Amino acid sequence: GQYGQYGQYEQGGQYGRFPGARPRRLRTTPAVRRLVAETRLHPADLILPAFLREGISEPVPISSMPGVYQHTRDTLKKAAAEAVAAGVGGIMLFGVPEHKDAVGSAGTDPDGILQVAIRDVLSEVGDDLVVMSDLCLDEYTDHGHCGVLDARGRVDNDATLERYAEMAVVQAEAGVHVVGPSGMMDGQVGVVRRALDGAGHQDVAVLAYTAKYASAFFGPFREAVDSSLEGDRKTYQQDPANARESMRELALDLAEGADMVMVKPALPYLDVLRRVADAVDVPVAAYQVSGEYAMVEAAAANGWVERERVIMETLTGVRRAGAGNILTYWATEAAGLLARG
Ligand code: PBG
Repeated sequence: GQYGQYGQYEQGGQYGRFPGARPRRLRTTPAVRRLVAETRLHPADLILPAFLREGISEPVPISSMPGVYQHTRDTLKKAAAEAVAAGVGGIMLFGVPEHKDAVGSAGTDPDGILQVAIRDVLSEVGDDLVVMSDLCLDEYTDHGHCGVLDARGRVDNDATLERYAEMAVVQAEAGVHVVGPSGMMDGQVGVVRRALDGAGHQDVAVLAYTAKYASAFFGPFREAVDSSLEGDRKTYQQDPANARESMRELALDLAEGADMVMVKPALPYLDVLRRVADAVDVPVAAYQVSGEYAMVEAAAANGWVERERVIMETLTGVRRAGAGNILTYWATEAAGLLARG
């Protein structure tokens, strides 16, 4: 038959009740299991998302994400230093400004909170950590959408692109290594690339949020960035029912100059992740989002699952499905667990 070349099934027949093939042989000890493991996690693959909030003197816990905080400038630097010490590969920064308005002015203020975060982290860790920034308006707008609105209250794609171009340059000027346009506007990667190049920032890379779904798993993130969004993001983020559509977004992002691509959320979209990973020759990342984190923490707090095992199993699953890099709020802790084996 199909597996006749191994001869084991025939052998099994010959010995009657003894199975010819014994996959369990390679599961007998931790050492043999480690030897034959097909997927390995490494701290350097992990990227820590982190929030800096303007105008606070103590870190503010995010109630829906136990263990995650809106940082002060001091605690953000500390978190970055701890990430470096644990061997984490990168940090993805988000700013939470004191003042929000219709166009998200704080996002393009050279002294805005995200730019402060970029400079602070760079001054703390230099080039030891890849410093990335979220390039989107929802943290800065009073209406909570990822773009600016037109007269009828709809998200205006092309007017938003002009804001993104400005944001990219301001973030690059603060020294960021990688920008992550996450607003799902058509053409955002190309506009950001051209803006960076035009301002002399050819070396700043673009991590494209290629497949980003209109997901309820972003729920706790709203609290993390004090977002007041009413309604939803379904006119720009993707329908969870669609996978082929992500391949179209992928082709566009690559044509527009994406250096790395990402799928988000992670666990509910492992099939999309696999398709993307099989299709490209650029690095592929996945974002284990706030709701994925919250779900595990809540179940673990109830004693319903083993916290550390579940964390590592989710990360391994995401890696196995094709992600080279994983953004996870557990990055520093997971790196520590990996170091301890
Ligand atoms: C957009 C952005 C969001 C997240 C990362 N970047 C929110 C959204 O698009 O609705 C969510 C991350 C998470 O839930 O952990 N600025």
